[in-house]
Amino acid sequence: MKKWVLFSAVLIAVAAITFVVSPATSASGPSKREVTFNKDVASILYNNCAECHRPNDIAPMSLLSYKEVRPWARSIKEKVVNREMPPWSPDPAYGQFTNDHRLIQKDVDTIAAWVDQGAKEGNPKDLPKMPEFVVGGWEIGKPDVVLQMAEEHVVKPDDPDQYINFFLPTNFKEDVWVQAAEVHPGNRRVVHHVIAFIQTPQMMAKRVDEAKTKGEKLGKRAAGGSGLFYLDGNLRRVKMDAPVVNNACDQKVAAGGRQPGGNGEGENEGMLLAGFAPGTGNTAYPAGTAKRVPAGSTLMFQMHYSAFRGSLKEAVTDRTSIGLIFAKQPPDKMVLTSAAANIMFKIPAGDGNHEVVACQTVPRDIQVINYMPHMHLRGKDMKYEAIYPDGRHETLLWVPKFSFNWQSVYWLKQPVNIPKGTKLIVTAHFDNSTKNKYNPDPTKDVRWGDPTYDEMMIGWMDITIDNPMKTVKPDAARASGQK
Ligand code: HEC
Repeated sequence: MKKWVLFSAVLIAVAAITFVVSPATSASGPSKREVTFNKDVASILYNNCAECHRPNDIAPMSLLSYKEVRPWARSIKEKVVNREMPPWSPDPAYGQFTNDHRLIQKDVDTIAAWVDQGAKEGNPKDLPKMPEFVVGGWEIGKPDVVLQMAEEHVVKPDDPDQYINFFLPTNFKEDVWVQAAEVHPGNRRVVHHVIAFIQTPQMMAKRVDEAKTKGEKLGKRAAGGSGLFYLDGNLRRVKMDAPVVNNACDQKVAAGGRQPGGNGEGENEGMLLAGFAPGTGNTAYPAGTAKRVPAGSTLMFQMHYSAFRGSLKEAVTDRTSIGLIFAKQPPDKMVLTSAAANIMFKIPAGDGNHEVVACQTVPRDIQVINYMPHMHLRGKDMKYEAIYPDGRHETLLWVPKFSFNWQSVYWLKQPVNIPKGTKLIVTAHFDNSTKNKYNPDPTKDVRWGDPTYDEMMIGWMDITIDNPMKTVKPDAARASGQK
């Protein structure tokens, strides 16, 4: 994500320079003069598209050279005019985001004019320098520590979707504060997602004990004790006949989620450190904020492997790693990952607009720094709202067209202050009808589950709280049993 922040900074700089040196692109409009690839379009593509549209990245084609771009000219015009590219899902009416990389109107007009004029190449002397990408490098900067899965994992073409946990001891002798983290999937063709959880030594000890008692391998996905779930191979799914709660707002029953401001250590998975999903690979917290990894912790990679049903022709291996950059000093604010989630919904077969609601009453003053809506293939839209203690209502985020392919984190320009007692409401809609072209099976009722053919409903957010450890020396905190 940070790269988009950097990219927009570069974009602003480049836009400013362009404005100074070529006034023709302003008042009179670009259509009045000749627009060429070399002079006008290449820099727009380098700054806004190349990040994904380059060899071996997530987009289907590279858009660096004229030769590569020319065959796509019409399609490029269509996608930028319709605002489908670069991808950006939130409604701009709510919230301002540092990684909002929508094109400015002038650039859209330039691209449209260029295509209308026949998509000419122009004078080679006008071509700006191609951006340099560090292949396999770290976008967050040089990590202080890199941790990698101890062994390779093999994915075969006929493997079902799998969730597998891998454990990576940190061997950290003292608590560390993570300022930035970047997950490097070892094999992008089969790594569907990675979530790196922090497991304290106590949590690990409990896991080892449990695995021993059950005679199971450490890392096997557990069904969980609540009776809601069953295990289907390695996948956890909610039972079809489990109680149904579509609107979990008025319920006392916990329908999922993580308390904002709670430390999450009671949770089975532990504290979330960082993640990877298509479109999201790295995390850099604002200055003065960081996530804590207690001494002696283990990182648990929850890997979702998918052979994507037939698209894989031969067995491949993966060995995923994570790079961490530490804050130079204990931060003023501590970052925690929190979520409003509903795990008890049921989407009827064929329903084109099924509503699911999750709520949370905030137990302490918090600042929200980013949002990340998460659903699967039937996810349609998601809204985050706040009802403040004084009764004021505010829409925080509105994603009207959720895309499973773009599970982005939306980084707020300014943290949103949420006082204690605020009610956070996350509302999602799902399309389980035949109209949804991504729908794996419109004839089935759908419940929560790991596989992409089941659903999820999570309104993730990173929040900060005043760092309770700022005033306590780390050694003293440890000695007194605080973690
Ligand atoms: C964050 C990554 C990303 C960025 C930035 C991005 N694209 Fe894309 N683009 C993709 C991916 C992935 C696809 C294929 C899946 C899809 O269509 O969503 C795609 C698809 C396209 C397509 C359609 C290709 C087809 O097969 O029909 C065009 C055209 C396109 N992009 C142009 C652009 C242009 C022009 C820009 C910059 C102004 C841009 N994209 C920025 C990731 C990106």
